[in-house]
Amino acid sequence: MSKLDRRDFLKSAALAGAGAAIIGLPIASCKEETEKKLSTKPSLPKVAPLKKVRIGFVGVGNQGSWHVQNFLKMDNVELVAICDIIPEKVERVQKWVTDAGLAKPKGYSAGPNDYVRMCEKEDLDLVYTATPWKWHVPICVAAMKNGKHAATEVPAALTIEECWKLVETAEKYNKHCVMMENCNYGRRELMVLNMVRKGIFGEIINGTCGYLHDLRNYKLGDEYEGNWRIEHSIKRNGNLYPTHGLGPVANCMNINRGDRFDYLVSMSSNSRGLQMFANEHLGPDHEYSKTKYALGDVNISLIKTVKGLTITLIHDTNLPRPYDRIDMVQGTHAISIGYPDRIHIEGKSPAHQWEPMENYRDQFDHDLWKNIGDLAKDANHGGMDFLEDYRLVQALLNGTPTDMDVYDAVTLSVPSELSEISVANRSKPVDFPDFTRGFWKEREPLIIPGA
Ligand SMILES: NC(=O)c1ccc[n+]([C@@H]2O[C@H](COP(=O)([O-])OP(=O)(O)OC[C@H]3O[C@@H](n4cnc5c(N)ncnc54)[C@H](O)[C@@H]3O)[C@@H](O)[C@H]2O)c1
Repeated sequence: MSKLDRRDFLKSAALAGAGAAIIGLPIASCKEETEKKLSTKPSLPKVAPLKKVRIGFVGVGNQGSWHVQNFLKMDNVELVAICDIIPEKVERVQKWVTDAGLAKPKGYSAGPNDYVRMCEKEDLDLVYTATPWKWHVPICVAAMKNGKHAATEVPAALTIEECWKLVETAEKYNKHCVMMENCNYGRRELMVLNMVRKGIFGEIINGTCGYLHDLRNYKLGDEYEGNWRIEHSIKRNGNLYPTHGLGPVANCMNINRGDRFDYLVSMSSNSRGLQMFANEHLGPDHEYSKTKYALGDVNISLIKTVKGLTITLIHDTNLPRPYDRIDMVQGTHAISIGYPDRIHIEGKSPAHQWEPMENYRDQFDHDLWKNIGDLAKDANHGGMDFLEDYRLVQALLNGTPTDMDVYDAVTLSVPSELSEISVANRSKPVDFPDFTRGFWKEREPLIIPGA
């Protein structure tokens, strides 16, 4: 195994999805080899403060449009260029900007690779993308190679190889590469993080989280441009959208800042929901009714950290159900859970009973929400999208580290391929790469300050 290089490892990992267990590949044993091969050193970018943040935005569909609206509310931000494969979407956003009395951004809509021309031609500080998943890494890499910071919607990357690509590029070009995980800025999540930092939970032991969202109508309808999302359910079987659940729990557990994910095991259920829904709503002759979907309706992955903490991560998007991310954090002194928001603190809450988290709002509400929650309230997803955009812009204006960095982006995204490998191999354990190459041991726990 000592001769196996990173590319071979990645090939074997990919093969695992096609049944590598049969040929006996040790899928979890090549971690050190992958880490040794990087030519760059782990580090955070050191960058000067900016007077204003000039943004090129790629992908102004559902989510991208909301981010643009957030930036239109902020001082010291200029939308310099807008790129989308659909010219009408570019024009719509250009009009929003000129209607706000600002200079018209340049438009880029000459095909799917036009973002490269934008990155090469425009003077930008930041390229921000909210495109379909497969474009996130190519767009971030083009941005950083051309001297721009990169921000991407979730997940940052789809494969282990893509994750390393982001890390290598960010380190080589000394650029921020931030994954915009809005759930890290939710009011409940930030209040829980605040309470964890203040010691209310004691030592953190365990978490349960996930993305539990009935997407049948979205995946099989016309929610997404070119129906890009359904392809992932057709071809892939694993925990495909891990970051919303994992982000806030990882912050409470100091992942990449004192601890790190060690390995996961993953199991998927049968796949029924999408085909049944297509049959009922689109008719038996529709191509989606005849399609075989690889994605199990429910995926359950278990993660263990190097320091022994445990996480259950669920992906559940193909069955009827109300929305949930669970957001359970459990320590030696307290446990909290979302949907609805509840907490139990030993010695304070009535024995064996939940209390509404609201009981502790005055004492532990996060300063970001206290100070600028009003500004955020009309933004998407209850305001958390505004707060994540605000924090990114503040970091660039102040020349300070971003809350989330490239190591967080890939650590939170990589469970999608790791779970696919585990599912394809009877739930065998699969090691997380240490994208930080030991840097996690030196770093202090994340503090997100107020505005
Ligand atoms: N954080 C959240 O809560 C949240 C919510 C929704 C979506 N998202 C993420 O946002 C991203 C976009 O999702 P969406 O729902 O807005 O999808 P969408 O289909 O509405 O938007 C994608 C946009 O990208 C454009 N596009 C596609 N390929 C392109 C290319 N090569 N160059 C330029 N533009 C291109 C499409 O024309 C479209 O306008 C996804 O990564 C998704 O996971 C995140």
